Amino acid sequence: MNPKIIIHGGFFSESNTNQEVKIAKQKALVDIVTKGAAYLNNHTALESVVYTVSLLEDCALFNAGLGSQIQSDGKIRMSASLMDGVTEKFSGVINIKDVKNPIQVAVKLMSVDDKVLSGSGALDFARQNGFHYYNPETPQRRGEYEKKLNDSIRLGTVGAVALDRDGKLAVATSTGGKGFEIPCRVSDSATVAGNYANNSAAISCTGVGEDIVSGALAAKIVTRVTDGFSLENAIGKSFEELKHFDGFAGVIGISAKGEMFHFDSHPHMVWASFDEEVSVFV
Ligand code: GLY
Repeated sequence: MNPKIIIHGGFFSESNTNQEVKIAKQKALVDIVTKGAAYLNNHTALESVVYTVSLLEDCALFNAGLGSQIQSDGKIRMSASLMDGVTEKFSGVINIKDVKNPIQVAVKLMSVDDKVLSGSGALDFARQNGFHYYNPETPQRRGEYEKKLNDSIRLGTVGAVALDRDGKLAVATSTGGKGFEIPCRVSDSATVAGNYANNSAAISCTGVGEDIVSGALAAKIVTRVTDGFSLENAIGKSFEELKHFDGFAGVIGISAKGEMFHFDSHPHMVWASFDEEVSVFV
C-alpha cells in the first residue's frame, strides 16, 4: 500500500481577494503536506496525523493553535481530537486555553480512561503532563477581534488524514473555533461529527461546527464507506443531506481501498495532498 496523506486548512473566503494570503496558504500547505508525507514513510498513520496537525497548529496562517480565533469574551479556547482507525479510540480536548499544541494533549488522553476533557479540566490535565503556558494569540487575530470582522473569514480548522504502509488509517483535527462565539461554545472538531476513523475510512471536517454536528458528517461518511459506498459517493450523499439546512462544510478523507477525496459545500476549502506527488488547491 502506498502511504497517502491529505490535509486541510479551513476555508478561503471568496470575499477575501488578498492573493498574497492565498499564495501564502498554498505554500504553507505544500510545505506541511510534504513534511507529513516524509514522516509517514517511517511512522504510523496515527503518529503522522499528529505530527502534521502540530505543524498546522504552529502556522499562524491557520485557525488552530498559534493564530486561533478569539471568543467573544476576548479569550482563545481551542479544541482538537484524534481518532485511530485501528483501535477506533477517540480522544480530544474541548475549549482548552494557553497551550501550544492542543492535538498533543489529545494524544496524551489516548492512554487514559477519560478520553475527552473540556475547559479547566483539560488545562489541568495538560499542565500535569508537562504542557507549559503558551499564548496562541497573534496581533492579526486581536485586530480582527477588535474590528469584529464579518463571518466569512471565521471558518477555519485544520486537519490531517493518513493511510500508512500497513493500510492503517488515522485522523486528527484542531480548531480555534468560529471567532466571536459565546464563551465555551463547543466546536465540531473534538466530536465524532468533525473527526472520525475506523478501518474502512477516515474523515476530517471544517466549516460551521453547528452544521457539521447536525449532519453528523464525519461519522456518517465513514459509516457509509463501511457499509459499501465508495468514498466519493459516501461524501456526495452526506453533502446532499446537508442541503436540507444549507449546511456549510468541507471534508477531506481517505478510504482503506486507497481512495482519497476532498469536497466542500461552499467555496473554498484550502487543502493539499500527497499521493506519489503533491497536489494543492488553486
Ligand atoms: N469547524 C470549527 C468550528 O465550527 O468551530
